[in-house]
Amino acid sequence: MRVAFLGLGRMGVLMAGHVLSAGHDLVVWDRTPGRASELVARGAREAETPAEAARGAERIALMLFGPESVRDVLPQVVGAADAGTLVIDGTTIGPEAAEEFAALVANSGLRYVDAPVAGSTGPAAEGTLGVLVGGAQADYDDALPLLHLWGAPEKVRRVGEVVAGSALKLCVNQGLGVMAAGVGELLRLGRLLGLDRAALLDVLGMTAYGWFLGQQRPMLDADDFRATTFSLDLMAKDLDLVVTAAGGDLPCLDAARAALGAHAGEDYAAMTAHVADG
Ligand SMILES: NC(=O)c1ccc[n+]([C@@H]2O[C@H](COP(=O)([O-])OP(=O)(O)OC[C@H]3O[C@@H](n4cnc5c(N)ncnc54)[C@H](OP(=O)(O)O)[C@@H]3O)[C@@H](O)[C@H]2O)c1
Repeated sequence: MRVAFLGLGRMGVLMAGHVLSAGHDLVVWDRTPGRASELVARGAREAETPAEAARGAERIALMLFGPESVRDVLPQVVGAADAGTLVIDGTTIGPEAAEEFAALVANSGLRYVDAPVAGSTGPAAEGTLGVLVGGAQADYDDALPLLHLWGAPEKVRRVGEVVAGSALKLCVNQGLGVMAAGVGELLRLGRLLGLDRAALLDVLGMTAYGWFLGQQRPMLDADDFRATTFSLDLMAKDLDLVVTAAGGDLPCLDAARAALGAHAGEDYAAMTAHVADG
């Protein structure tokens, strides 16, 4: 299959790598020339523009930063792709943008599924991401061979029509943000109660917070958040998308947003330290 993959950030480069490993004909594009060098060395072709990548592709995958980056790139894609081509948008964009992009694609005679992913660079490297797909059943069926390259079969699912994947993904990330802030408050509470921090983290690791601490404890112990997998600026973008989609009256979300701090490139685990340190 001829596949175009646009967006080779932390996640995209790993996901596109699976497309190559599966033996597909891969054309890649990234806004920053040279990002594709590793994939090119493995046999991918680097396009100079989104339109060049899209031309002649049977499937077009997007893994960009957010709605604005998709808004920059998608018009060039739809202007060049063949009628009927399936666009698989893995970017976390929220439901409003998913609706907008689905209409843009449909008006150009192409097909669209929103297919944001759950899980970070580890699962992306292993090909065990969750994929939350919104789209028509037939489009989902056509997307599956690619989605199964970066998603674990039991975690790839159609959750409704177009938009549903993007809406559900916001729920996932509201949970992550609240968790990061909540663990920070627990560390602050432990300090106020005179508890040993390591003992507190050990015990929290056995509770509902175990998943989060399993991933983030090394960064919390080192108080160093530069080994970014999911950046604070992505988290800020996603929490803003929640506000836009849901309106107000989400008190836990407000607490998560207050925890964001200023270091956009750092990992979102820095939210925990921000709340813990006060
Ligand atoms: N990282 C995670 O753990 C994770 C987990 C689940 C979902 N996601 C979602 O997956 C998507 C990608 O995440 P990521 O971690 O790979 O992000 P990233 O490393 O920040 O990469 C973002 C990508 O978007 C491109 N981009 C940004 N603005 C653009 C624009 N205006 N025009 C064209 N391209 C633009 C970047 O190009 P440059 O190379 O030029 O900067 C880069 O390829 C995001 O929607 C994120 O919310 C991430």
